[in-house]
Amino acid sequence: MSWIDHKKTCNFTYNSSAQLSTNFYDKTCPKVLTTVNSVVRSAVAKEKRMGASLLRLHFHDCFVQGCDASVLLDDTSSFTGEKTAGPNNNSLRGFNVVDNIKSKVEAVCPGVVSCADILAIAARDSVVILGGPSWKVKLGRRDSKSASLSAANSGVIPPPTSTLNNLINRFKARGLSTKDMVVLSGAHTIGQARCTLFRTRIYNESNIDTSFARTRQRTCPLTVGSGDNNIAPLDVQTPIAFDNNYYKNLINKKGLLHSDQILYNGGSTNSLIESYSKNSNSFNSDFAAAMIRMGNISPLTGSSGQIRKNCRRPN
Ligand code: HEM
Repeated sequence: MSWIDHKKTCNFTYNSSAQLSTNFYDKTCPKVLTTVNSVVRSAVAKEKRMGASLLRLHFHDCFVQGCDASVLLDDTSSFTGEKTAGPNNNSLRGFNVVDNIKSKVEAVCPGVVSCADILAIAARDSVVILGGPSWKVKLGRRDSKSASLSAANSGVIPPPTSTLNNLINRFKARGLSTKDMVVLSGAHTIGQARCTLFRTRIYNESNIDTSFARTRQRTCPLTVGSGDNNIAPLDVQTPIAFDNNYYKNLINKKGLLHSDQILYNGGSTNSLIESYSKNSNSFNSDFAAAMIRMGNISPLTGSSGQIRKNCRRPN
Protein backbone atom coordinates (compact mmCIF):
# COMPACT_ATOMS: atom_id res chain seq x y z
CA MET A 1 0.00 0.00 0.00
CA SER A 2 1.37 3.44 -0.90
CA TRP A 3 1.74 5.99 1.85
CA ILE A 4 -1.09 8.03 0.35
CA ASP A 5 -3.41 5.02 0.31
CA HIS A 6 -2.38 4.23 3.85
CA LYS A 7 -3.19 7.76 4.94
CA LYS A 8 -6.59 7.55 3.27
CA THR A 9 -7.30 4.33 5.15
CA CYS A 10 -6.26 5.92 8.44
CA ASN A 11 -8.44 8.94 7.81
CA PHE A 12 -11.32 6.65 7.04
CA THR A 13 -10.71 4.70 10.24
CA TYR A 14 -10.45 7.91 12.21
CA ASN A 15 -13.75 9.19 10.84
CA SER A 16 -15.63 6.01 11.46
CA SER A 17 -14.27 5.74 15.00
CA ALA A 18 -15.56 9.28 15.47
CA GLN A 19 -19.13 7.91 15.36
CA LEU A 20 -21.08 7.57 18.57
CA SER A 21 -20.98 4.15 20.23
CA THR A 22 -22.63 2.46 23.18
CA ASN A 23 -19.29 1.42 24.70
CA PHE A 24 -17.51 4.77 24.37
CA TYR A 25 -16.67 5.12 28.08
CA ASP A 26 -16.18 1.42 28.87
CA LYS A 27 -12.45 1.91 29.48
CA THR A 28 -12.27 5.60 30.41
CA CYS A 29 -15.27 5.90 32.72
CA PRO A 30 -16.92 2.54 33.40
CA LYS A 31 -18.98 4.02 36.23
CA VAL A 32 -20.60 6.76 34.17
CA LEU A 33 -23.96 5.04 33.66
CA THR A 34 -24.45 4.06 37.30
CA THR A 35 -23.32 7.50 38.47
CA VAL A 36 -25.75 9.37 36.22
CA ASN A 37 -28.53 6.92 37.04
CA SER A 38 -28.27 7.36 40.81
CA VAL A 39 -28.53 11.16 40.59
CA VAL A 40 -31.46 11.00 38.15
CA ARG A 41 -33.20 8.45 40.37
CA SER A 42 -32.98 10.62 43.46
CA ALA A 43 -34.01 13.78 41.58
CA VAL A 44 -37.08 12.06 40.09
CA ALA A 45 -37.92 10.45 43.44
CA LYS A 46 -37.98 13.96 44.91
CA GLU A 47 -40.05 15.43 42.08
CA LYS A 48 -41.56 13.20 39.39
CA ARG A 49 -41.83 16.06 36.90
CA MET A 50 -38.04 16.32 36.83
CA GLY A 51 -37.98 13.23 34.59
CA ALA A 52 -40.00 15.16 32.02
CA SER A 53 -37.82 18.22 32.36
CA LEU A 54 -34.63 16.23 31.78
CA LEU A 55 -36.09 14.52 28.71
CA ARG A 56 -37.05 17.88 27.24
CA LEU A 57 -33.57 19.33 27.85
CA HIS A 58 -32.05 16.69 25.54
CA PHE A 59 -34.60 17.50 22.81
CA HIS A 60 -33.97 21.25 23.01
CA ASP A 61 -30.23 20.62 23.04
CA CYS A 62 -30.27 18.42 19.94
CA PHE A 63 -32.49 20.67 17.80
CA VAL A 64 -30.23 23.72 18.18
CA GLN A 65 -26.75 23.22 16.65
CA GLY A 66 -26.87 19.47 17.37
CA CYS A 67 -26.56 17.46 20.60
CA ASP A 68 -23.63 19.45 21.99
CA ALA A 69 -24.91 20.68 25.38
CA SER A 70 -25.17 24.22 23.97
CA VAL A 71 -28.48 24.53 25.82
CA LEU A 72 -26.65 24.33 29.16
CA LEU A 73 -24.34 27.31 28.63
CA ASP A 74 -24.95 30.46 30.64
CA ASP A 75 -24.43 33.79 28.87
CA THR A 76 -20.83 35.04 28.74
CA SER A 77 -19.24 38.32 27.68
CA SER A 78 -18.71 36.85 24.21
CA PHE A 79 -22.13 35.26 23.57
CA THR A 80 -25.71 35.24 24.72
CA GLY A 81 -26.78 31.61 24.99
CA GLU A 82 -30.01 29.69 24.44
CA LYS A 83 -31.50 29.88 27.92
CA THR A 84 -33.45 33.09 27.32
CA ALA A 85 -34.69 32.08 23.85
CA GLY A 86 -38.48 31.99 23.37
CA PRO A 87 -38.91 28.20 23.61
CA ASN A 88 -36.65 27.98 26.68
CA ASN A 89 -37.10 31.05 28.86
CA ASN A 90 -39.08 30.37 32.07
CA SER A 91 -39.68 26.97 30.62
CA LEU A 92 -36.64 24.68 30.64
CA ARG A 93 -35.92 23.09 34.00
CA GLY A 94 -33.38 20.70 35.46
CA PHE A 95 -30.14 22.67 35.08
CA ASN A 96 -29.29 22.13 38.75
CA VAL A 97 -29.81 18.39 38.43
CA VAL A 98 -27.44 18.35 35.43
CA ASP A 99 -24.86 20.26 37.52
CA ASN A 100 -25.24 17.72 40.26
CA ILE A 101 -24.79 14.80 37.82
CA LYS A 102 -21.75 16.49 36.28
CA SER A 103 -20.02 17.02 39.63
CA LYS A 104 -20.57 13.36 40.60
CA VAL A 105 -19.26 12.20 37.21
CA GLU A 106 -16.23 14.51 37.46
CA ALA A 107 -15.49 13.00 40.86
CA VAL A 108 -15.22 9.48 39.39
CA CYS A 109 -13.52 10.36 36.07
CA PRO A 110 -12.46 13.97 35.72
CA GLY A 111 -12.43 15.59 32.28
CA VAL A 112 -13.76 12.54 30.44
CA VAL A 113 -17.56 12.62 30.06
CA SER A 114 -19.26 15.37 28.05
CA CYS A 115 -22.29 17.31 29.23
CA ALA A 116 -23.99 16.40 25.94
CA ASP A 117 -23.65 12.69 26.77
CA ILE A 118 -24.92 13.33 30.30
CA LEU A 119 -28.09 14.84 28.80
CA ALA A 120 -28.59 11.81 26.55
CA ILE A 121 -28.15 9.36 29.45
CA ALA A 122 -30.34 11.39 31.82
CA ALA A 123 -33.13 11.52 29.21
CA ARG A 124 -33.07 7.73 28.80
CA ASP A 125 -32.94 7.12 32.56
CA SER A 126 -35.86 9.49 33.12
CA VAL A 127 -38.03 7.61 30.64
CA VAL A 128 -37.15 4.26 32.23
CA ILE A 129 -37.77 5.49 35.79
CA LEU A 130 -41.23 6.74 34.81
CA GLY A 131 -42.13 3.36 33.31
CA GLY A 132 -41.15 3.78 29.65
CA PRO A 133 -38.86 1.80 27.37
CA SER A 134 -35.10 1.53 27.68
CA TRP A 135 -32.45 1.73 24.96
CA LYS A 136 -28.68 1.63 24.69
CA VAL A 137 -27.56 5.25 24.65
CA LYS A 138 -24.91 6.03 22.07
CA LEU A 139 -22.06 8.06 23.51
CA GLY A 140 -19.01 10.02 22.47
CA ARG A 141 -20.51 13.46 21.91
CA ARG A 142 -18.36 16.45 22.83
CA ASP A 143 -19.48 19.84 24.12
CA SER A 144 -19.73 23.06 22.18
CA LYS A 145 -17.60 26.04 23.16
CA SER A 146 -20.41 28.47 22.52
CA ALA A 147 -24.15 28.87 22.12
CA SER A 148 -26.32 31.28 20.21
CA LEU A 149 -29.53 32.98 21.26
CA SER A 150 -30.45 33.72 17.67
CA ALA A 151 -29.96 30.07 16.65
CA ALA A 152 -32.34 28.99 19.42
CA ASN A 153 -34.84 31.66 18.36
CA SER A 154 -34.64 30.87 14.66
CA GLY A 155 -37.65 28.56 14.72
CA VAL A 156 -35.74 25.25 14.74
CA ILE A 157 -37.70 24.27 17.86
CA PRO A 158 -41.32 24.19 16.72
CA PRO A 159 -43.77 26.35 18.69
CA PRO A 160 -47.01 24.90 20.10
CA THR A 161 -48.98 26.97 17.57
CA SER A 162 -47.40 24.96 14.71
CA THR A 163 -49.41 23.54 11.85
CA LEU A 164 -48.92 19.87 11.01
CA ASN A 165 -46.75 20.86 8.07
CA ASN A 166 -44.55 23.04 10.29
CA LEU A 167 -44.02 20.13 12.66
CA ILE A 168 -43.21 17.73 9.84
CA ASN A 169 -40.79 20.18 8.22
CA ARG A 170 -38.95 21.11 11.39
CA PHE A 171 -38.26 17.50 12.20
CA LYS A 172 -37.34 16.82 8.58
CA ALA A 173 -34.80 19.65 8.81
CA ARG A 174 -33.13 17.64 11.58
CA GLY A 175 -33.16 14.41 9.58
CA LEU A 176 -36.20 13.01 11.40
CA SER A 177 -39.25 11.54 9.68
CA THR A 178 -42.93 12.30 10.20
CA LYS A 179 -43.19 9.03 12.10
CA ASP A 180 -40.27 10.08 14.34
CA MET A 181 -42.06 13.37 14.97
CA VAL A 182 -45.29 11.61 15.94
CA VAL A 183 -43.58 9.09 18.18
CA LEU A 184 -41.31 11.67 19.86
CA SER A 185 -44.35 13.85 20.53
CA GLY A 186 -45.43 10.92 22.71
CA ALA A 187 -42.95 12.38 25.23
CA HIS A 188 -45.92 14.59 26.13
CA THR A 189 -47.22 11.60 28.07
CA ILE A 190 -45.28 13.18 30.95
CA GLY A 191 -44.72 16.71 32.19
CA GLN A 192 -46.57 20.00 32.35
CA ALA A 193 -47.25 23.06 30.23
CA ARG A 194 -48.02 26.68 31.07
CA CYS A 195 -51.40 28.28 30.53
CA THR A 196 -49.99 30.91 28.19
CA LEU A 197 -49.11 28.12 25.74
CA PHE A 198 -52.53 26.45 25.65
CA ARG A 199 -54.94 29.33 26.40
CA THR A 200 -55.98 29.87 22.79
CA ARG A 201 -56.66 26.18 22.39
CA ILE A 202 -58.92 25.78 25.42
CA TYR A 203 -60.98 28.91 24.64
CA ASN A 204 -61.05 29.11 20.85
CA GLU A 205 -60.58 25.71 19.28
CA SER A 206 -63.37 23.35 18.29
CA ASN A 207 -61.53 20.03 18.09
CA ILE A 208 -61.46 19.82 21.89
CA ASP A 209 -63.56 17.84 24.35
CA THR A 210 -65.91 20.35 26.01
CA SER A 211 -65.57 19.13 29.57
CA PHE A 212 -61.79 18.86 29.22
CA ALA A 213 -61.68 22.46 27.97
CA ARG A 214 -63.82 23.60 30.90
CA THR A 215 -61.61 21.84 33.41
CA ARG A 216 -58.50 23.48 32.00
CA GLN A 217 -60.18 26.89 31.88
CA ARG A 218 -60.63 26.76 35.68
CA THR A 219 -56.92 27.27 36.23
CA CYS A 220 -56.11 29.10 33.00
CA PRO A 221 -58.10 32.34 32.81
CA LEU A 222 -59.07 33.84 29.46
CA THR A 223 -57.40 37.17 30.17
CA VAL A 224 -53.89 37.36 28.82
CA GLY A 225 -51.48 38.09 31.68
CA SER A 226 -53.69 36.38 34.22
CA GLY A 227 -52.47 32.96 35.37
CA ASP A 228 -50.02 32.72 32.47
CA ASN A 229 -47.64 30.51 34.42
CA ASN A 230 -50.27 28.19 35.88
CA ILE A 231 -49.44 24.69 34.78
CA ALA A 232 -51.47 21.70 33.63
CA PRO A 233 -50.45 18.14 32.75
CA LEU A 234 -49.76 17.39 29.11
CA ASP A 235 -51.34 13.95 29.67
CA VAL A 236 -54.64 14.39 31.49
CA GLN A 237 -54.76 10.73 32.52
CA THR A 238 -51.32 9.68 33.80
CA PRO A 239 -48.98 12.70 33.86
CA ILE A 240 -46.15 11.00 35.72
CA ALA A 241 -46.25 7.66 33.90
CA PHE A 242 -44.53 7.13 30.57
CA ASP A 243 -47.24 5.27 28.63
CA ASN A 244 -49.34 5.59 25.46
CA ASN A 245 -52.22 7.52 27.04
CA TYR A 246 -51.06 10.62 25.18
CA TYR A 247 -52.37 9.04 21.97
CA LYS A 248 -55.64 7.93 23.57
CA ASN A 249 -56.13 11.53 24.73
CA LEU A 250 -55.69 12.81 21.19
CA ILE A 251 -58.37 10.42 19.93
CA ASN A 252 -60.66 11.79 22.68
CA LYS A 253 -59.83 15.39 21.68
CA LYS A 254 -57.99 15.91 24.96
CA GLY A 255 -54.64 17.02 23.62
CA LEU A 256 -53.46 20.01 25.67
CA LEU A 257 -51.41 21.87 23.07
CA HIS A 258 -52.57 22.88 19.62
CA SER A 259 -49.46 21.06 18.32
CA ASP A 260 -50.60 17.88 20.08
CA GLN A 261 -54.16 17.81 18.78
CA ILE A 262 -53.09 18.76 15.24
CA LEU A 263 -51.54 15.28 15.02
CA TYR A 264 -55.06 13.84 15.19
CA ASN A 265 -57.22 16.20 13.24
CA GLY A 266 -58.04 14.31 10.07
CA GLY A 267 -54.60 14.69 8.49
CA SER A 268 -51.85 12.35 7.35
CA THR A 269 -50.76 11.40 10.89
CA ASN A 270 -54.18 10.17 12.07
CA SER A 271 -53.43 6.51 11.36
CA LEU A 272 -50.17 6.60 13.35
CA ILE A 273 -51.97 8.09 16.34
CA GLU A 274 -54.59 5.35 16.15
CA SER A 275 -51.98 2.66 15.95
CA TYR A 276 -49.91 3.96 18.91
CA SER A 277 -53.09 4.40 20.96
CA LYS A 278 -53.81 0.69 20.52
CA ASN A 279 -50.33 -0.70 20.76
CA SER A 280 -48.08 0.37 23.58
CA ASN A 281 -45.37 -2.10 22.52
CA SER A 282 -44.95 -0.48 19.14
CA PHE A 283 -45.00 2.97 20.76
CA ASN A 284 -42.27 1.91 23.19
CA SER A 285 -40.00 0.37 20.59
CA ASP A 286 -40.48 3.15 18.03
CA PHE A 287 -39.92 5.79 20.74
CA ALA A 288 -36.63 4.17 21.78
CA ALA A 289 -35.42 3.99 18.17
CA ALA A 290 -36.42 7.60 17.49
CA MET A 291 -34.62 8.82 20.63
CA ILE A 292 -31.43 7.23 19.31
CA ARG A 293 -31.91 9.02 15.97
CA MET A 294 -32.58 12.32 17.76
CA GLY A 295 -29.45 11.80 19.84
CA ASN A 296 -27.43 11.42 16.64
CA ILE A 297 -28.17 14.95 15.40
CA SER A 298 -24.85 16.61 14.41
CA PRO A 299 -22.72 15.60 17.39
CA LEU A 300 -19.26 17.07 17.88
CA THR A 301 -16.80 14.18 17.86
CA GLY A 302 -13.07 13.50 17.55
CA SER A 303 -11.18 16.67 18.40
CA SER A 304 -14.09 19.08 17.79
CA GLY A 305 -15.48 20.94 20.77
CA GLN A 306 -14.31 20.04 24.27
CA ILE A 307 -15.24 18.15 27.43
CA ARG A 308 -16.54 20.91 29.64
CA LYS A 309 -15.59 20.79 33.30
CA ASN A 310 -18.65 22.78 34.25
CA CYS A 311 -21.69 22.31 32.00
CA ARG A 312 -22.62 25.99 32.33
CA ARG A 313 -19.44 27.42 30.81
CA PRO A 314 -16.78 26.67 28.25
CA ASN A 315 -13.41 25.65 29.76
C1 HEM B 1 -43.42 18.16 18.16
C2 HEM B 1 -43.09 19.36 18.54
C3 HEM B 1 -43.11 19.80 19.96
C4 HEM B 1 -43.71 20.93 20.43
C5 HEM B 1 -44.45 21.97 19.61
C6 HEM B 1 -43.50 20.95 21.85
C7 HEM B 1 -43.95 21.95 22.69
C8 HEM B 1 -43.90 21.90 24.06
C9 HEM B 1 -44.43 22.91 24.93
C10 HEM B 1 -45.08 24.20 24.47
C11 HEM B 1 -44.24 22.50 26.21
C12 HEM B 1 -44.63 23.26 27.49
C13 HEM B 1 -43.55 24.29 27.81
C14 HEM B 1 -43.93 25.24 28.92
O1 HEM B 1 -45.02 25.16 29.45
O2 HEM B 1 -43.11 26.11 29.27
C15 HEM B 1 -43.59 21.22 26.16
C16 HEM B 1 -43.25 20.47 27.24
C17 HEM B 1 -42.59 19.27 27.16
N1 HEM B 1 -42.07 18.69 26.02
FE1 HEM B 1 -42.47 19.22 24.13
N2 HEM B 1 -42.80 19.84 22.22
C18 HEM B 1 -42.52 19.11 21.10
C19 HEM B 1 -41.77 17.95 21.03
C20 HEM B 1 -41.19 17.35 22.11
C21 HEM B 1 -40.22 16.29 22.03
C22 HEM B 1 -39.66 15.71 20.74
C23 HEM B 1 -39.91 15.94 23.31
C24 HEM B 1 -38.94 14.90 23.80
C25 HEM B 1 -38.60 13.84 23.12
C26 HEM B 1 -40.70 16.78 24.18
C27 HEM B 1 -40.72 16.70 25.54
C28 HEM B 1 -41.45 17.54 26.37
C29 HEM B 1 -41.63 17.30 27.79
C30 HEM B 1 -41.18 16.06 28.54
C31 HEM B 1 -42.34 18.40 28.29
C32 HEM B 1 -42.71 18.67 29.76
C33 HEM B 1 -41.51 19.32 30.45
C34 HEM B 1 -41.70 19.64 31.93
O3 HEM B 1 -42.72 19.30 32.52
O4 HEM B 1 -40.77 20.27 32.48
N3 HEM B 1 -41.43 17.65 23.42
N4 HEM B 1 -43.38 20.89 24.84
